[in-house]
Amino acid sequence: IGQGILAAVIGYLLGSISSSVLVGRWMAGIDIRQHGSGNAGATNTLRVLGQRAAAAVLVADVAKGLIAIAVAMALAPDRTGVWAVAGLFAIVGHNWPIFFGFRGGRGIATAIGVLLTLVPVPALVAGGIALIALALTRYVSLGSLLFTLLTAVFAVVFHYPAVEIWLTIAIAALAVWRHRDNIGRLIRGEEHRLGQGKSRL
Ligand code: G3P
Repeated sequence: IGQGILAAVIGYLLGSISSSVLVGRWMAGIDIRQHGSGNAGATNTLRVLGQRAAAAVLVADVAKGLIAIAVAMALAPDRTGVWAVAGLFAIVGHNWPIFFGFRGGRGIATAIGVLLTLVPVPALVAGGIALIALALTRYVSLGSLLFTLLTAVFAVVFHYPAVEIWLTIAIAALAVWRHRDNIGRLIRGEEHRLGQGKSRL
């Protein structure tokens, strides 16, 4: 239990480092959350600040997931439950960051780091399908939702242990919750497409 709590705290604090807010502040003197979709993530950074800034944010936010898992593995080398807690709380921190007024992102980049490490095969298969959907529709939100939901499906299909399955379900549930605005826009046909420019937002 002690290790689990420690993993949660470390994961949450790591996740709370909102790289998109920092990059926006440093590169352009803006709060990324007041522009574009208002989301503190790589997609909105791409939309508002361009490719270089977005790449930096993507790498940093994926790394938060990877580092949280690595720390948990060092802390509890044989307890996957502790690793899962660290990963889940890194995503929670990314979504509701303690250092940035609890207004963060949707957790997908950090989930990529967590899921590729803990459930690699389901994450890769789901990621492939999500990328195809993204290429065809240019809806990042649709790709994000497909990635997290299908990772959970494939974790079940490939008979992963219960801890990993519950982790993927929790991550998918968080993703749906954080994308509820996007889901509304997708249904209404108003979602922003990649490369569409800023005008529609
Ligand atoms: O992971 C975030 C992405 O799915 C959507 O971001 O800024 O288009 O709402 P955004």
